[in-house]
Amino acid sequence: MSSTHAPAPSAGKRGEVIVDQITCDFSGTRVLHETDLMVQAGEFFTLLGPSGSGKTTLLRIIAGLIDFTSGSVAIDGSDVTHLPTQQRDLGFVFQNYALFPHLTVAQNIAFGLKIRKVRGAALTKRLDEMLELTELGSLRDRHPAQLSGGQQQRVALGRALAQRPRVLLLDEPLGALDRRLRQDLGSEIRRIQQESETTAIYVTHDQEEAYILSDRMGVMEAGYIRQVGAPREVYSAPNSDFVANFLGETNSFAAEVVGHDRDGTTVRTGEFAVTAAAGSPLLIGTACTLSARPEQIRLSASVETVPAGYESVARVTVTDARFFGQTIRVRLADERGSYLVDLDSAEAIPTIGTPVVMSVRARSAVLIPTH
Ligand SMILES: Nc1ncnc2c1ncn2[C@@H]1O[C@H](COP(=O)(O)OP(=O)(O)OP(=O)(O)O)[C@@H](O)[C@H]1O
Ligand SMILES: [Mg+2]
Repeated sequence: MSSTHAPAPSAGKRGEVIVDQITCDFSGTRVLHETDLMVQAGEFFTLLGPSGSGKTTLLRIIAGLIDFTSGSVAIDGSDVTHLPTQQRDLGFVFQNYALFPHLTVAQNIAFGLKIRKVRGAALTKRLDEMLELTELGSLRDRHPAQLSGGQQQRVALGRALAQRPRVLLLDEPLGALDRRLRQDLGSEIRRIQQESETTAIYVTHDQEEAYILSDRMGVMEAGYIRQVGAPREVYSAPNSDFVANFLGETNSFAAEVVGHDRDGTTVRTGEFAVTAAAGSPLLIGTACTLSARPEQIRLSASVETVPAGYESVARVTVTDARFFGQTIRVRLADERGSYLVDLDSAEAIPTIGTPVVMSVRARSAVLIPTH
């Protein structure tokens, strides 16, 4: 029989989301510009960006919760642009848990299942699975007011996943929790997402959260997704000054391309020549920024004592040096700008006012064309 029908959707994971050329205007102001996004089935995808960059708007468009100007959304290959939220088969977790205060943990988790007329043994089985997944079994008869913030968010997660949604949408679900709990619950969310094989689209402005949780992430700025990639890829090869600076600290040196070889591009910055990582080839003479993370830089007393494998990049003066636990964070400056370097905390703390040479690990810094 089945051979006469169209092939079944590919077995296994579901929940592929395709956002195609979405534009959204709010009272005449464009908050999303022709945005494209492809989230694979089973993937944990994070939208990361500063406040007001359009993360929540994009998530709510995928959810079907707001009207937008043009473009389309497809889930598992079908266009859902005009499908009401409740028919999209999605789960939601937001910053404000919005649990029902008069219902117990178990009743909160079972709520959506009952609405969908799941009853009897099927209901009990699914509820028990969710209590186990979220490790809330021992708290099943408590009310939300008797739970910590982290436990309440686990209930919200259980409630969202109980109906086995195709896609779980999370908007800053850890935003109201303290740092330690954010990390613990973040790992929990990742485990639960993987065990339940649910596609997750997660919104945050916290880069560490994005790194820990995501298979891939998209960095948003002012209504654009500026770069998409695995966390490490985006961190180590930012494609713009915005991404480089938003994802942690970076040191920028004005530079000009002077040559290429097989595994790098040589640039001149001030009096020094530095080999950057091989990226997309830039024409000789192109003005660019050489961007190096603090951990890619060393400090030496002179050009002669720069360590092997490192290349001098600037003569600077120490302006601040502080013990930071695992590292010593050193601030430096020259006439072109200021810089930041993390030293191993076993090293001596440099004296303010000392002249030093900054060097960068060869072929590690990236080049960003100057526009
Ligand atoms: N209903 C609305 N009417 C008018 N403007 C809106 C509306 N909702 C959002 N905006 C604007 O759209 C832009 C994007 O907002 P959005 O909530 O998507 O940002 P965000 O990236 O989620 O920020 P945050 O990290 O602060 O939550 C902002 O400039 C915001 O002021
Ligand atoms: Mg938001």
